[in-house]
Amino acid sequence: MELILIQSQEHETLPLAELKAVLATEKIATEIECVNTGLVLLKSLDIEKFEEIYKILVKRLAYTHEIHEIILNTSLNNLEDDFNNIKWNDYISGTYAVRVKRFNNPEIDTLAIERRLGHLIKSQNSNFKVNLENPNSFIRVIVSKKRIFIAIEGFKLNKKHFYNIKPHKRPFFYPGSMSPKLARCMVNLAHVKSGQLLLDPFCGTGGILIEGGLIGAKLIGSDINWKMKNGTAINLDYCDLQDYEVYHKDVRELKLLKKADAVVTDPPYGISTSTGGEESSAIFQQFLESISENMVEDAYLCIAHPHYLDIDSILNILKFELLERHRIKMHKSLTRIISVIKKSDI
Ligand SMILES: C[S@@+](CC[C@H](N)C(=O)[O-])C[C@H]1O[C@@H](n2cnc3c(N)ncnc32)[C@H](O)[C@@H]1O
Repeated sequence: MELILIQSQEHETLPLAELKAVLATEKIATEIECVNTGLVLLKSLDIEKFEEIYKILVKRLAYTHEIHEIILNTSLNNLEDDFNNIKWNDYISGTYAVRVKRFNNPEIDTLAIERRLGHLIKSQNSNFKVNLENPNSFIRVIVSKKRIFIAIEGFKLNKKHFYNIKPHKRPFFYPGSMSPKLARCMVNLAHVKSGQLLLDPFCGTGGILIEGGLIGAKLIGSDINWKMKNGTAINLDYCDLQDYEVYHKDVRELKLLKKADAVVTDPPYGISTSTGGEESSAIFQQFLESISENMVEDAYLCIAHPHYLDIDSILNILKFELLERHRIKMHKSLTRIISVIKKSDI
């Protein structure tokens, strides 16, 4: 079976990297085909596990807008015939909507195609009713340069989540918190599984921990500032997350009783975040030196850092292996780097 994903184009590398990380974490066997930027096929999915896989992707992915099950793929010339040959009784219950989306495609009249295809469905069964706002069955027709995909939405991504949970909408707010989308993506890049222990030793207002908790991780947060530690607890309670511990601790003195399966964190730098009066490069170095002791072997570490900090020389000395790196341009003089690192035993 096949799924088609419409991904965000707000970043060049993160959406696909996030998808690949989730597929690996959840051990989903598939063949990935990138049709266009922002359009990805997952082929040869296990039919027995199809629904489970679909639900996992919908629950976890931040930089993906839509996920649909492919009914068939065709060409512009054969679209009407192939569409009409589909037994829509097998797919539609009650109300429906047909929506067309173009990817790098020449002139096609999307509205006219939507009307025509909608009409073909209705002519198969006059009991089906169009409902464009809230249909029972959502048919997505994706037109790329060479192929047209006819697909149906089985499970909807909760697009409102990343908007509703923005930092200023939580009960405890402090400037410098990262976007929930990026936080979720970093959790995914760190290969965190449900039930595993996720640590953020610079937890601030708890944005990363919230996203980890929502995919089922157990959480440990700590911060040098007791107001932040308390604020994290307030925000985690607000999100109804219970499986957490928070500590008022300098990262350099952190000694966990149980080692973390993954660390995802956003250490301080720049103007708006507190470094407790210390040079941020010194904190990064000391943090990397001490965090290793709090991680299980093979644990992933996903960190955000500014472009001007050279962490590679520290990684080389410590037992860390750099796996991937993504660049996010914040403004003229600051690029935020997301590094995915693994604790290695070599
Ligand atoms: C960039 S903020 C983290 C923001 C967080 N991701 C959020 O969503 O709110 C960095 C945090 O590191 C904390 N911090 C600074 N130095 C620290 C240290 N040595 N040990 C632990 N926490 C520290 C600051 O108090 C601040 O809350």
